[in-house]
Amino acid sequence: MGYKEVYDRSLADPEGFWMEAAEAIDWVRKPSRALFAGNAPLYEWFKDGQVNTCWNAVDRHVVAGHGDRIAIIHDSPVTGSQQKITYAELQTRVASLAGALRARGVAKGDRVIIYMPMVPEALEAMLACARLGAVHSVVFGGFAAHELAVRIDDCTPKCIIAGSCGIEPGRVVQYKPLLDGAIEQAAHKPEFCVIFQREQEVAKLTGGRDLDWHDFQRGVDPADCVPVSGDHPAYILYTSGTTGAPKGVVRATAGHLVALNWSMKNIYNVNPGEVFWAASDVGWVVGHSYICYGPLIHGNTTVVFEGKPVGTPDAGTFWRVISEHGVRSFFTAPTAFRAIKRDDPKGELIKNHDISCLRALYLAGERADPDTIEWAQNVMGVPVYDHWWQTETGWTIAGNPAGIEALPVKIGSPTVAMPGYDVRILDEGGHEVAPGTLGAIAVRLPLPPGTLPGLWQAEERFRKSYLNTFSGYYETGDAGMKDEDGYLWIMARTDDVINVAGHRLSTGAMEEVLAGHPDVAECAVIGVSDALKGQAPVGFLCLTRGVDRPHDEITRECVARVRDQIGPVAAFKLAVVVDRLPKTRSGKILRAIMVRIADGQDYKMPATIDDPAILDEIRTALQSIGLARN
Ligand code: COA
Ligand code: AMP
Repeated sequence: MGYKEVYDRSLADPEGFWMEAAEAIDWVRKPSRALFAGNAPLYEWFKDGQVNTCWNAVDRHVVAGHGDRIAIIHDSPVTGSQQKITYAELQTRVASLAGALRARGVAKGDRVIIYMPMVPEALEAMLACARLGAVHSVVFGGFAAHELAVRIDDCTPKCIIAGSCGIEPGRVVQYKPLLDGAIEQAAHKPEFCVIFQREQEVAKLTGGRDLDWHDFQRGVDPADCVPVSGDHPAYILYTSGTTGAPKGVVRATAGHLVALNWSMKNIYNVNPGEVFWAASDVGWVVGHSYICYGPLIHGNTTVVFEGKPVGTPDAGTFWRVISEHGVRSFFTAPTAFRAIKRDDPKGELIKNHDISCLRALYLAGERADPDTIEWAQNVMGVPVYDHWWQTETGWTIAGNPAGIEALPVKIGSPTVAMPGYDVRILDEGGHEVAPGTLGAIAVRLPLPPGTLPGLWQAEERFRKSYLNTFSGYYETGDAGMKDEDGYLWIMARTDDVINVAGHRLSTGAMEEVLAGHPDVAECAVIGVSDALKGQAPVGFLCLTRGVDRPHDEITRECVARVRDQIGPVAAFKLAVVVDRLPKTRSGKILRAIMVRIADGQDYKMPATIDDPAILDEIRTALQSIGLARN
């Protein structure tokens, strides 16, 4: 069957389609059906099945005789080390860690926060939670204490598992002070913390609270897999929304297993036993789905890469990893390729490596610009598949189904809707628009298995954020169009979310931090175009009347404040003081026009603008920080 037949069947007979895909999963008790629609527009998949994620990702491969197969390759140019872990070893390690957590009282349904760098132990911690039916929430290491505290208060973890440090080029990031600071700030206190000590930074443990990763496993019985129901939350992953409060995206266990397993062959075109590499971080959804769960559930070898595309040690690192470990399919964000292209424009470094093992490159996380795609195609000599998805969906909404049928690539489009996703382009009134017309991208409900059933303990927010705008649809938050061939084109976000180096960030969250500065009366943050990172945040500050300090002192403090409270990952480096912000007569800040001015693009003067002269002031302010130059 080709793509069209498979896709059409998935929409005409979702029950049959997904029950068939569910055959590839080991169930403790098979579900009686796929879709449970009794609570529409909230849907659940495989709800009455009993299953365990860790069993499917680890134990079943050992039982099937693949215990000697490599499950995880840790390749860490930043520490100069490599490690390979077989499925049998992974089973022993995860069962031991789960046993130690169980001995300390962690049980089904308890939340566990994981704050770790790119080491195999991060995956082991995720899998140990899954083994017990505990619900993990991984927090990206580039977030600062305040962001960690917000997540602690939202999901109220019984314990936190943390690394002692992460390693960024040129510096060791100590995690313990961030962890301590977060626990101090949070109203909820975890019962205990488990610290994985690394030789680059041995953290001082807090007596009565912190346990050493190895010590606390000593003499404890390993734990078996605990069956959970299909709708049990496998994890919570926080992602940026329009406000400072991140959204706790919930992933239900059974749909996650079925969809990720299905995607490994049909989208990423790998067979069990082959090496799959997603160069991202376990703190993001790409890391959850395609560094940890997808490849392991499917019986692949996954690469855990602790390094950067450039500078660790050079722009040839990716080629080395691909050739050294025999990577068949490779997934990363376009920004990584822009970084490589900038350092090695002619792709000279690839000549030192044989990457003939590679079948395709997959890009996602942000818009893939045509230049980058073409450069990657030319240098690597493999097809480049852009694909579009979100933390909320957990796997591809639109992509090129290479394992079913590789469709012709149209550069700039992530290709077509994946099975289960009935993608429509709607106008403001919720009516479908003609092909080639821009609109809001929505997906007709129900979403397929593996997507979010809701937000953690926030049903109203879930409905408001995703379901209420277009009745019967999931609102993606992206705008774009569909062409005559059914190819999708993703153009922009419809909300205040920006995308910096493939990282999804909320300008609203940054504004909340800036507004907290005592001298700032009002502010706005916009995302301007950045040649490397796609977008970069810029802050506009209106000062409180009577403040008479040098502006550069205040902007410096504001930059430091965002780094301190959100984290270095926000890459907030530019702020400028202005007298006033451009607004409509009803008081809405005209952010979209400010972006166009910053990017040197034309714009139409909005009829509702309060005072057009402000736009000239904004242009002058932007020019003072090197932007808005035509
Ligand atoms: N822990 C602590 N700090 C971190 C961190 C982590 N896990 N990850 C990033 N940071 C810090 C960086 O050190 C940097 O700090 P600095 O301001 O002191 O330089 C800051 O956060 C911004 O990081 P980043 O966005 O990674 O920018 P960069 O300039 O260091 O590197 C790229 C640019 C393009 C090389 C980098 O973004 C990259 O490798 N991107 C790959 C894409 C990716 O993984 N996307 C995830 C979604 S698929
Ligand atoms: P995240 O939840 O962090 O994965 O971010 C999801 C958002 O990133 C999407 O809603 C899009 O705005 C953007 N995005 C992801 N992949 C793509 C893509 N292939 N093309 C364009 N935008 C993308």
